[in-house]
Amino acid sequence: MNKVYSVEDFPLDEKTMMLHETLFHNANGYIGVRGTLEEGVPQEYNTMRGTYVNGFYDVIPMKQAESLCNLVEEKETMVNVADVQTMHLSFDGETFSLFSGEITNLIRTLDMEAGTTTRSMQWSSPHGHEVQIQFCRMASFTHKSVFTIACKVTSLNFDGELTVSSKHSGIVANYANPSDPRLAAEGRAYLRPQANILENGVSYLVTHTTKSNLELCTAVAHRFSKPGSSLVTYSADAHCYDTNYTCRLHPGETLLVEKYAVIQDSIRSDNCLQDAQKEIESVYGKLDALYQQQREYLSEFWKCANMEIDEDDESNLAIAFNMYQLLQSCGSDGKCGIAAKGLSGEGYEGHYFWDTDIYILPFFVLTNPALARGLLNFRYSTLDAARENAKLVGHQRGALFPWRTIHGKECSGYFPSGTAQYHITGDIAYAAVKYYLATGDTEYLIKEGAEILIETARLWCDVGNWNDGKFMINDVTGPDEYTCIVNNNYYTNACAKYNLNWAVKAANILRKMDAFQALADKLALRDAELDEFQRAADAMYLPYNEKLGINPQDDSFLQKPIWDLKNTPKENFPLLLHYHPLVLYRHQVCKQADTVLAYYLFDGLEDRETVARSFAYYEPITTHDSSLSTCIFSIVASSLGEKEKAWNYFGSSITLDLQNKHGNTGDGIHTANMGGSYMVIVNGFAGVRIQEDGLHMAPYLPAAWSGYRFQMQYRGSSLELSVHKTGYCISLLNDVPVTILLPGTSIVLDRKASEYVQAWQEG
Ligand code: BGC
Repeated sequence: MNKVYSVEDFPLDEKTMMLHETLFHNANGYIGVRGTLEEGVPQEYNTMRGTYVNGFYDVIPMKQAESLCNLVEEKETMVNVADVQTMHLSFDGETFSLFSGEITNLIRTLDMEAGTTTRSMQWSSPHGHEVQIQFCRMASFTHKSVFTIACKVTSLNFDGELTVSSKHSGIVANYANPSDPRLAAEGRAYLRPQANILENGVSYLVTHTTKSNLELCTAVAHRFSKPGSSLVTYSADAHCYDTNYTCRLHPGETLLVEKYAVIQDSIRSDNCLQDAQKEIESVYGKLDALYQQQREYLSEFWKCANMEIDEDDESNLAIAFNMYQLLQSCGSDGKCGIAAKGLSGEGYEGHYFWDTDIYILPFFVLTNPALARGLLNFRYSTLDAARENAKLVGHQRGALFPWRTIHGKECSGYFPSGTAQYHITGDIAYAAVKYYLATGDTEYLIKEGAEILIETARLWCDVGNWNDGKFMINDVTGPDEYTCIVNNNYYTNACAKYNLNWAVKAANILRKMDAFQALADKLALRDAELDEFQRAADAMYLPYNEKLGINPQDDSFLQKPIWDLKNTPKENFPLLLHYHPLVLYRHQVCKQADTVLAYYLFDGLEDRETVARSFAYYEPITTHDSSLSTCIFSIVASSLGEKEKAWNYFGSSITLDLQNKHGNTGDGIHTANMGGSYMVIVNGFAGVRIQEDGLHMAPYLPAAWSGYRFQMQYRGSSLELSVHKTGYCISLLNDVPVTILLPGTSIVLDRKASEYVQAWQEG
């Protein structure tokens, strides 16, 4: 499997710079550093020079134009923290830049086995000095607070004074783009200097956020491979340390600069400065060991996440890229989640959405359940905030998870396509159930999962109402953000039904445990309330249109005119940037999979014919303006046997960021789509479903491929599925026996019979 992604001799325009800042960012689930040029870009370039800490935020005003009751007037936003990446090189006074002199052999590489990015080039200065320069960067997976840069300068013909000026700057601002609602409108500086210390050659900057009361300490130290003179100066104005080092460099000689940076924040540390001191001491001078540990960590990761496509290097690379980015984005300490853009950029301000629970969690559940558990733990840690949120929105009981958040508060400024997306509450409950079904982790269920299920079930009972013997949910927004505040959104109702059913099931599973009584007491849960959940689930209204034989997206959807997508000018996409929301709401036009997503997540709600008719209905009116869409259409197409369509949708999803298909990868990666493209292969092509009755598989081979294989975990069993031109083979890789439900049969794999081979049936 090809795990090295490179680009060569690319144009140096702002758009490409931004794109590469994203594609070559370094992150480890805790810190993320954009792949900005160490030496900087010309002033006229508005690129995003950013360093982020997962879950580290400030609170800023979000003034509503009209102060309606209980609309949120503040939001949490991800903070760009101290700049530890800037490094200038100058050769007898000539400062290195990609924009002066002549650059040759320019190449940027992401090595997903080494866990590093490199940028190398040959520079011929305006005065004819020739040097070879390479920067290698790493966010360590084994030392989460550590980021390193190794800069190697080799003289080709230069004989003179080389000066390195390396910065550690605490005065930084967030990026802004007022013309795109997916970015912050104003760039602000959120950090206030508190202290600066220089001790044993290490510079420390301590800063505080303005409102969220958080502290951050960064520590930076350097190591130079050649003797030279070094001076560290501090400028209070810029809250910045500048390490200036000078040496003589002769042709053929190389200088290696190692820059070690450590970031500690007060969400995780009680004494950021002390912890930063300890960590920088423990890693200083040990770059090779850090590289080695990084490789070992990734070798373990790839062992479990292994996925290979025969004879298709492009797909292999794209899949590896997507999985690697998910790992880079994934918070693992229970104090943070996965932002829509991971830690790669400021799009959506570092907010967590349902992207994690529905699109990304499945990848971790099947490849690294411990990381999945960390993500669930984080959601649980925000349950109290969700209870508060429910009250704020007027509910008498239950928990309403915020549509977008960092620390647990609702942060969406536009409630029709924000707070009104109640389905996020059901999505989180769904994720808890799927994790439990895939792992059998009863400890999770009793400690956290059941409480989430019960509190969210309460919410549905409170938001819904009985009408003519049916349970209905009115005035909510489903996943499709081009249709807002509707009655009985099919997806939301299906999600609520699942949630209510599972609150009862979880109680029944756990009933025999002592701990359950304690939980029931804590939540004042009575059997009568469980009966209420069950009645609402059983009577949940799921819209169905007799005439068309489909499930309408909501009660009024089919009454609206159909948007003429074929005759909409190409440049008017995404529609959200070109039409007033009300125009979109008044048409049958979808931003993304909505009802179609329900078919994938809640198998068995409708018969195959209804699903096929609905799929055919929604296809021509869906723009896929959201990156969360084509992957789902692909999976459902697979389940309907529409293999060509499944393949085409897969094509749009798999390289969405690598090929910048939505034109905004420069603002950050699309993590949900990355998880989605993994699901296309596992849940679409291989037909994997994890249901109450067990693990299902129904594999097929897309016509364009000659074979594929991947590994996955299920309830302690480690499995490999390999699909070929002649059939498929499922192997058990460890000793934990497993039953697998295949079309028309079921098999048991154990130590004695650890392999099952099935040839394709004719027809
Ligand atoms: C989509 C949402 C998604 C959000 C963050 C929006 O464009 O419509 O479903 O959660 O992006 O990725």
